[in-house]
Amino acid sequence: MCDHCGCRNFAPIAELTGEHDEILRLAWQVVEATHATEAEQARMDLRALLDLHVRKEEFGLYPLLVACGRITRMRSDDLEEEHVEIRRSLAGGDFIRRDYYALAAHVEDEETDLFPAARFAFDEEEWALLEAAHRAAEEYEGGRSRRRT
Ligand SMILES: [Fe+2]
Ligand SMILES: [Fe+2]
Repeated sequence: MCDHCGCRNFAPIAELTGEHDEILRLAWQVVEATHATEAEQARMDLRALLDLHVRKEEFGLYPLLVACGRITRMRSDDLEEEHVEIRRSLAGGDFIRRDYYALAAHVEDEETDLFPAARFAFDEEEWALLEAAHRAAEEYEGGRSRRRT
């Protein structure tokens, strides 16, 4: 269990965990917002943060765990498919409680299975590659938002 294994002592895992907290906070706001403008702002913030977070996982954590033999390629594909579904329900504008719970289950799965797996499987080289993937994702998403404005 993540709370006890010490995986959050590793900066890239602490970073992903912090993003999960913010993602779930924003997602709950989308579901529970009482004003349309509030919901729309939360939806936009959530979409931007999800794009960044998903990019970090799909270019960092998942392939590194596959390379270490800690998860299968199929498991990684399934998690990526869940990302697509989350993004689709958010883009459709009808993100409801059921979608929130699906998102929370995805987060829980990563925190209880993948993060502890990384903590025990990765050594210096993998942590450095994960860190580099995170910085590259930030650079990519930062560039994208600059191009949008
Ligand atoms: Fe994910
Ligand atoms: Fe995640």
